[in-house]
Amino acid sequence: MATAVIAQHSKPNLAADVRAGLCRPGQKELPSKYLYDEIGSALFEVVSVLPEYGLTRADERLLHRHAADIVSRLKPQVLVAELGSGSGKKTRWLLEALARRQCTTYCPIEISPTALARCENELSGIDRISIVGFERPYLDGLLAAAARRAENDRLLVLFLGSTIGNFDRDAAERFLTEVRRILFPGDALLLGTDLEKPLPQLLAAYDDSLGVTAAFNLNLLARINRELDADFDLAAFRHEARYDTEHQRVEMHLRSLRDQIVSIPRSGCRVSFLKDETVWTESSHKYRAEDISAIARRNGFHCDSQWIDTEWPFAESLLFAE
Ligand SMILES: C[S@@+](CC[C@H](N)C(=O)[O-])C[C@H]1O[C@@H](n2cnc3c(N)ncnc32)[C@H](O)[C@@H]1O
Repeated sequence: MATAVIAQHSKPNLAADVRAGLCRPGQKELPSKYLYDEIGSALFEVVSVLPEYGLTRADERLLHRHAADIVSRLKPQVLVAELGSGSGKKTRWLLEALARRQCTTYCPIEISPTALARCENELSGIDRISIVGFERPYLDGLLAAAARRAENDRLLVLFLGSTIGNFDRDAAERFLTEVRRILFPGDALLLGTDLEKPLPQLLAAYDDSLGVTAAFNLNLLARINRELDADFDLAAFRHEARYDTEHQRVEMHLRSLRDQIVSIPRSGCRVSFLKDETVWTESSHKYRAEDISAIARRNGFHCDSQWIDTEWPFAESLLFAE
């Protein structure tokens, strides 16, 4: 049905964030949101079908099997907003179930214009679904989507793919509180979370044998070369996935293979790397299904229902705003 795109509002500042993350004392870091330029978004699509990365398939199995049940728990007439939709492939099952009930507006919210375009393309053919995409950061986009709701609309926010795991635990809770502030009582949040699993399985998911995840991670340096005229030698860095037991998270790093200095002219800096020093590029926190209810309660929601994939432990939790 209809498709519209609302242009970007507050643009992320790659140059400033690179300078802040690489010139700080101690552990160098780059925000994971910058992994998703055109090449990064395409590589993530490949990661999501790798044999080692069961997460996306588990999320999709749950949505496919339980879409009708999920939709039956929602009050009639919802406006759907999806945070970080990516290609939106899995969302089809929910939208089709909603469309059987009513005409529905779907608002994918994406920082990556490539991912947003792919999502709109992927889902544009569903009868009785209108798409209004927002190329904006999560909360900006959610505010804009919420402003479109009609008087009797409930909001259904989708946060799938365990993207919440990219936030540190405290930041994840603060984020849920911010989302809750935008919602009205009775609005819903469908939250996908990857669950703890054996270490070899977890590490392989973030360090596959084909090297696609390595390319996804290294592309961040290539992006900085392309967009900020930097001179990173990609062969002088190696992708690394490690598990932090204390924080129950997989971390992706880029390890410098030698002492080196990199110029990043558009960030106005030169950065020294020691051999074996790393840049931390992404965290993927793993959750326990039984913790989701308490997390929901602490941030103004209650957990109505939860569906768990047993093949690849993953939870889909339907939360309602109190
Ligand atoms: C891990 S991927 C998940 C994609 C999809 N939801 C899935 O489950 O396969 C995270 C997505 O969120 C987007 N993203 C990351 N940070 C964002 C931000 N701050 N605001 C909006 N989108 C963001 C990325 O571009 C990417 O497409």
